[in-house]
Amino acid sequence: MYGKIQETASWLKERMTTSPKTAIILGTGLGQLASEITESYEFSYKDIPNFPVSTVEGHAGKLIFGKLGGKDIMAMEGRFHFYEGYSMKEVTFPIRVMYELGIQTLFVSNASGGMNPGFKIGDLMVINDHINFFPEHPLNGPNFPTGPRFPDMHEPYDSELIALADNIAKEKNIRLMHGVYVGVQGPTFETPAEYRMYHKLGGDAVGMSTVPEVIVARHCGIKVFGISVITDLGGFEVPVKVSHEEVQEAANNAQPFMTEIMREMIRRS
Ligand code: HPA
Repeated sequence: MYGKIQETASWLKERMTTSPKTAIILGTGLGQLASEITESYEFSYKDIPNFPVSTVEGHAGKLIFGKLGGKDIMAMEGRFHFYEGYSMKEVTFPIRVMYELGIQTLFVSNASGGMNPGFKIGDLMVINDHINFFPEHPLNGPNFPTGPRFPDMHEPYDSELIALADNIAKEKNIRLMHGVYVGVQGPTFETPAEYRMYHKLGGDAVGMSTVPEVIVARHCGIKVFGISVITDLGGFEVPVKVSHEEVQEAANNAQPFMTEIMREMIRRS
């Protein structure tokens, strides 16, 4: 695996004309930020050696390099989900490559189902913490030399970046919620009883991504900031039906605000 990571990183380094220290992962329906990247150049996942290929509708599947908020950045449009059948090593492969490329800060985004009764559809939730409910751990197996065997997780999401996001949201009058993200395998959305359970266990939102990537980023010493777009609500008195199309539409409506916050954070950090 380590050889493959280095092979992919070398292939990219040979072709890169910028030196990003910041990477962004764009979640379901959250690809708009990509169109704001200037002086951009990109690589389709299918052309990058060893890269898995994304299969989900709404995930284009490319790495984009360029400038955002005046800084060199790289963005992943389309991520790999465990429910698609990828192994945890494949799901987190791009993070390992990012580390080899010199990435120091990772911005992650996703769509999720809100369980906190204070949330509305279209809300942005800063991820303060997460609960890992994936059936397999991304660090399972021989330890990688990027971090310790038993990594500390007392601050998975960087508190300074969270404070910066709050300041920017206040300035720009953007409603910004906070909460705990529960990461699950999917691909089913939750039953009413499951939403209630995850909420009782301390979750504010539930989704099918992010947690594996964040764990591996932390294992590499990469700082992480996460935003979840609340695309549907679960666990309340009256169960509501959820569809992938609704999730995409809600994400699409919320994404200009997410883009605004992330761009400004990158400019100031
Ligand atoms: N549950 C799990 N994943 C999701 C949801 C949800 O309600 N909404 C968007 N992704």
